[in-house]
Amino acid sequence: MTEKLVFLGMGGTIAGTAASAGDNVGYKAAQVGVQALLASVPGLVPLLGGREVLSEQVCQIDSKDLEHTDWRSLWDRVSHYLAIDDVSGVVVTHGTDTLEETAYFLSCTLPVELLKRKPVVLTCAMRPASSLTPDGPGNMADAAAVALCKEAHGVLVVCAGKIHTAAHVQKVHPYRTDAFDSGEAGPVGLVEEGRVRLLGDWPTLTASGSPIGSPVLPSDAWPRVELLISHAGATGAVVRAMLETDADAAPLRGIVVAGTGNGTIHKIMESALLEAQEQGIRVVRVSRCAYGQVVGGSATDRSGAFASAGLSGVKARIGLMLEIASQS
Ligand code: SIN
Repeated sequence: MTEKLVFLGMGGTIAGTAASAGDNVGYKAAQVGVQALLASVPGLVPLLGGREVLSEQVCQIDSKDLEHTDWRSLWDRVSHYLAIDDVSGVVVTHGTDTLEETAYFLSCTLPVELLKRKPVVLTCAMRPASSLTPDGPGNMADAAAVALCKEAHGVLVVCAGKIHTAAHVQKVHPYRTDAFDSGEAGPVGLVEEGRVRLLGDWPTLTASGSPIGSPVLPSDAWPRVELLISHAGATGAVVRAMLETDADAAPLRGIVVAGTGNGTIHKIMESALLEAQEQGIRVVRVSRCAYGQVVGGSATDRSGAFASAGLSGVKARIGLMLEIASQS
């Protein structure tokens, strides 16, 4: 049996095109299919060492517009391929803007027995495929090297020669090709000339493949969890608006609030959140600081809201959605 490496396309700038090759910002994302992208990857054939490539276009989308149902479609295809014996790993080409959300969702929900043996590597680009100097082909080659690394496992993100874990990775720059960072944890490793150099530990996988143990949701069952930020001059108006019935949205089930400093919340907004909690809405606090996490209980926190374990707001939102769903 020939071993196989799978590439799944989700769209993004890596698949984007602009009217001129010199234009790295005025492009349209998600235009080129994953099969065509593969043709531009430098050194892919020697890297593959005789393995076969399978590819499939799952979505063709600017990742800012992704829906939960798109995550579900990707989950279906990744699970399908991981379960095939002679598949060594899966590479996903994806937009940078919500890459960390997709990576975290997959890390919470893919079966651990598969992730333990086979990595899922998300990669991306900050410059479109039509650029004179595109970064996507090199990132795809690096992602393939990680996906074929025997020790690699879990859900990983590869960009600009760095390997990040799904739990820590965050987009931190709107333009630089080295747009991702893993904060205090740092990258787990580097890719140099097609070789992986480990700097830390591959991600630890918990029993269910998920820190939460949640089922993967059917398209109509995603609980609505909103994200808001506390700031000087904050009011309770946004919280009250979230609680109102909206024909276009499911009833609110949870709120993640990115608090100031150690997760503190403006007293007026906090009062509104307490009212929301009394109505059964789950509230999770994270810190809006770029580094660190909420430590201990905050003296000024009256809400008793659970402080997320160092997750960013967007990831805490996914965690809360999965947790609510698993309890429904
Ligand atoms: C996207 O996230 O799909 C567009 C932006 C990017 O990939 O850099």
